[in-house]
Amino acid sequence: MPPQTTSAQATVERGPVPFSSRLLDGRALALDVWSIFNAANLPPDCINLGQGYMNFSPPKWVSDAADDALRTVSGNQYAHPRGVVRLRQAISQFFSEQFRRELDPEKEILVTSGANEGQYSVFVAFLEPGDEVILFEPYFDQYLACITFNGGKPVYVPLHPNTIKDRMTAHDWTVDFDELRHAITPRTKMILLNTPHNPVGKVFTRDELEKIAALAKEFNLLVMADEVYDCLVYDNHEHVRIGTLPGMWERTVTVASAGKAFSATGWRVGWLIGPASIIRPSLAACTRIVFSSNSPLQLAVAVGLEQARARSYFETQVSEYEERRSVLCDALDRLGAPYTLPQGSYFVLLDISKLRIPEEYPFPDMLQGRGRDFRACWFMAYEIGVSAIPVSEFYCDEHCGIGERFVRFAFCKDLETLRSAGERIQKLKSYLV
Ligand SMILES: Cc1ncc(COP(=O)(O)O)c(C=O)c1O
Repeated sequence: MPPQTTSAQATVERGPVPFSSRLLDGRALALDVWSIFNAANLPPDCINLGQGYMNFSPPKWVSDAADDALRTVSGNQYAHPRGVVRLRQAISQFFSEQFRRELDPEKEILVTSGANEGQYSVFVAFLEPGDEVILFEPYFDQYLACITFNGGKPVYVPLHPNTIKDRMTAHDWTVDFDELRHAITPRTKMILLNTPHNPVGKVFTRDELEKIAALAKEFNLLVMADEVYDCLVYDNHEHVRIGTLPGMWERTVTVASAGKAFSATGWRVGWLIGPASIIRPSLAACTRIVFSSNSPLQLAVAVGLEQARARSYFETQVSEYEERRSVLCDALDRLGAPYTLPQGSYFVLLDISKLRIPEEYPFPDMLQGRGRDFRACWFMAYEIGVSAIPVSEFYCDEHCGIGERFVRFAFCKDLETLRSAGERIQKLKSYLV
């Protein structure tokens, strides 16, 4: 029998031994956006601007290095739990200047199985039951289970979009600092900050980061700086690393992803940068979770970082992404619906408040009880053939009204795909009021 699904929670066949309730607390069994808007549920010719993975390959000189590594003996064996030495050295050489300190490859860098597992390790290492973690909404949905699986409690602080403006940029999504201060309690352990931000595309300003840093110092909080999109910052915006602000190195762990940097999200290589006092406990956790991350792809990423400067790799990549962003945003300009122009990352939020979906339109049961944005994404996939992701998924129930107004397009796709999607998007015109 196919698995039965209800609106919010996938029904899982229960065996004689019950599974842990933590799966429910972390919404790990929920019928999430990724299972609703996956290829199997969408029309076969639908253009996928939903999930944030690339439809192009990593640079050949980087994947060639992976091939080379697979042909060596050591490249196929366990890596050191901290990560292969060559990659840690390459990370130190590449990032020390940006962190304004000589990063110690032995103590201040930990290679992880993607950014995700790095973040999980930090939570294992630092959360006590009941500890609170502040998340800015919309938040990357993986955070929730990572926190609750480790006994933590998410506390949500929404970014506020200035939707009065005609042409919003990601800068128009702002933090209410009184709200942030009020969210802090004696149980708060950590602030999770994502800049450049998924899905808003916001690059937090120095001033905003200084205010967050001041609160972290005042209340003795750890800051997890999820900077997986650090290499995708547009229009010469300044990406400030909160870990470099005065007094912040000691309390900040910065999270990175080779998946985003080298168009290789399936390689599952990421790393943490921070003081030994954060890296050492995270290493202890990481060693017991995965022991070590895969060796050959770490070696390939090392080559990527070693050669990136000489090849102007990241500069070229930014201009390629700027072009991708323009193709999508030009199409949205022609459509005439408001959207948020991103300053970083690879997402554009379309404001769907003027979209009128025909009342009699048939929606599947699994959308029952979900926001308007879920219906809009379904309608768009079936009527115009472009998939997007509903943004209310990235909010707690109390705040999901903010997210319901937006759907997210990912533009980490080749130009031809984006142009075709842009053409199809014009069909939405007849549904705008
Ligand atoms: C904000 C954010 N953090 C972390 C990750 C996870 O990165 P990785 O694929 O390296 O685990 C993602 C992936 O989409 C992301 O958007």
